[in-house]
Amino acid sequence: MNEKTTNGESEFPGPMDILWHGAAYYPELWPMQSPREELERVRDAGLSVVRIGEFAWSKMEPLEGEFDFSLFEEVMDIALELGLAVVLGTPTATPPIWLTHGHADRTLHDQEGRVMSHGGRQHAAIEHPYVRERCRIIVTEMAKALGAHPALIAWQIDNEFKCDVSEDYGPSVRPVWEEWLKERYETIENLNTAWGTGVWSQEYQDFEQVPFPVKCPGLHNASLLTAWKRFHRERIAGYGAEQAEIVRQFSKAPITHNAGMLFQSNPELVMESMDFVSFDHYVDSDNWYRMVTNYDYWRNLKPDRSFWLMETSSAHNGSLLGFHKPHPKGFVKAEAVAAYALGAKAFCYWVWRQQRAGAELTHGCLMQSWDSPTVGMQACREVEAARQILEPALSGKRVKRAEVALMWSDTGRVMLDTEPHNGLDYCELLTQWSRVLRSTGMHVDVVPEGDSLEGRRVLITPFMPAVSEEMLGRIEAFVRAGGTWIAGPLTGGRTIEHTVPVDRGLGCVEAIAGIRVKHSYPLFNSGAEGVAFDARVELTGWSYLLESEGAKMVGTIEGGPTPGLGFLSENALGEGKVVVLGSEPCGERHDEFLKALFSHYAQGAAVEQWFTVSEGSFVSPWESLDSESSETLIACNFDGEGGSLRLPGRCIDTETGVEIDSEELVSIPAYGFRILAVEPKAYFRRDEEGTAVLVDRV
Ligand code: GAL
Repeated sequence: MNEKTTNGESEFPGPMDILWHGAAYYPELWPMQSPREELERVRDAGLSVVRIGEFAWSKMEPLEGEFDFSLFEEVMDIALELGLAVVLGTPTATPPIWLTHGHADRTLHDQEGRVMSHGGRQHAAIEHPYVRERCRIIVTEMAKALGAHPALIAWQIDNEFKCDVSEDYGPSVRPVWEEWLKERYETIENLNTAWGTGVWSQEYQDFEQVPFPVKCPGLHNASLLTAWKRFHRERIAGYGAEQAEIVRQFSKAPITHNAGMLFQSNPELVMESMDFVSFDHYVDSDNWYRMVTNYDYWRNLKPDRSFWLMETSSAHNGSLLGFHKPHPKGFVKAEAVAAYALGAKAFCYWVWRQQRAGAELTHGCLMQSWDSPTVGMQACREVEAARQILEPALSGKRVKRAEVALMWSDTGRVMLDTEPHNGLDYCELLTQWSRVLRSTGMHVDVVPEGDSLEGRRVLITPFMPAVSEEMLGRIEAFVRAGGTWIAGPLTGGRTIEHTVPVDRGLGCVEAIAGIRVKHSYPLFNSGAEGVAFDARVELTGWSYLLESEGAKMVGTIEGGPTPGLGFLSENALGEGKVVVLGSEPCGERHDEFLKALFSHYAQGAAVEQWFTVSEGSFVSPWESLDSESSETLIACNFDGEGGSLRLPGRCIDTETGVEIDSEELVSIPAYGFRILAVEPKAYFRRDEEGTAVLVDRV
């Protein structure tokens, strides 16, 4: 939604219309303070938006059925006067004591049956009919009271679904679990067949017998474990959708939810009912690449709209337990520039003022609990200066859709959770693959399972054990039309019900890959190495050792119990290729090998969005909304070392107006950025050595 957002009654631009800069503010925690003076400070810091309300249920409904939104109305009135926009959060993550006190059945139970206490967040059992009803009521009353306020530019539903808790094993879940199973399997026989419950005499005779995966001696059935997680992911998304629907009855402001990549929810499902995407991400400067993975992902959940970064720290993280190291000077600016340059329309801090009470006393902020600006405030001023430069440069443009896509699959994540194969962590693996992919200099999208694949040239789907028929159909069409699909490690080795395929080792994937899996066993600590593209790499993990049935064997295994079999195959299909990576590269040459793999196939697929940029920096290509020909490059440095970029064509530095010749080395200042307008028609391809060569794009 780079076009204007419908924005209800608000006097402000919509969430997608400008580059916002904001912070979370909790007026309910500062009764000794004048909200006007505080909001004046917020405005003077250069911020344009505050998020309020998301934990204030006990202030809004101190006693059951008695509502008071006056503080929030007052804050919104003042914000409006001062020119500050407001995002309102529904407060359902933190119910008041009267909702759960003395009612263990209304609280979430963990896998050991422990009851979650009042005092933290997300402890209420959202499947409990009474809890659910009170959630609906508070959201309704809040939306009625505040939903048409002219300061309001957006709603945030709840806060970070499942960030502090995972699945609920409490009694209120029982009826919905059975209902979900019935809907999915229709008969208990179907469930038994799908899950292979003949193992260990698990067969069920009725849905009411299907257990929660609480502690049992040994391990539960993989299908039960995976189904349980899917069920909860659908339920929490439904909970968000229900609130969004209520809000829409009383308010025209667009709705979002601040999700996170690591929480126990599926962002792709959650965002289906939201108007725009937002997320929270706290990064430390040594791991800056993690934020790039985040931006590359959140940008793709609603590809026709931009997204918000709703929370990050202006300085460091902290809680009662400890803190992270402080961000080096300049890092927060680089973080914000990266966010805006990779498509975010907002960069917001948690939290405006230091928490004076609670569990997060040491968290980074912009103002101390007394009236003194923090190092975070310095960072905020640097961000604001950069934002003002970026805003006109990015207006009327959007980040180009990347030709290279790495799939972040919630199915893969859930299945690796159920079956971690010696401790594989899906999120960490995908983040590392994304880091290596970005380090080639390519422009990358990290895409959800539902990606249309339009405009993609290379699709990479690692660690995705099950590929649904629908997805395989979509991918096959993409390949036949000229795309390159790199599948694996593990991709295809399980059915969607988390059983082992019985037709072929890699199930439906094998059918279009021109291979046959000869053996499937762990190459873990086996001494096996893979050799491909003049590169050699140690192999590990649960592996599929391949023989050709028409495919070219690009990589073969040396050493280990069965040397000579393939681990990397390539099959021509239509205009494109299916590439199977049957084993997991590891060890010292992991990065080098993956880079060689990605570069080889990107070159073969004629990927154009590929920049010669030093490590620690990256380039984000933007296109104009109204003309295909003009392109802007934002080059950013993250590692604080500064970087350089060899330009693909003649460019103009938009800040200085200086023309820079193609092939000239352009420097990127430490934690700094350059905005470069590429001359129309200056496009390039890689030649066989990987060097950029200018071509006319026709
Ligand atoms: C987020 C949460 C905030 C605050 C922050 C601290 O997960 O949404 O309310 O707790 O973490 O880093």
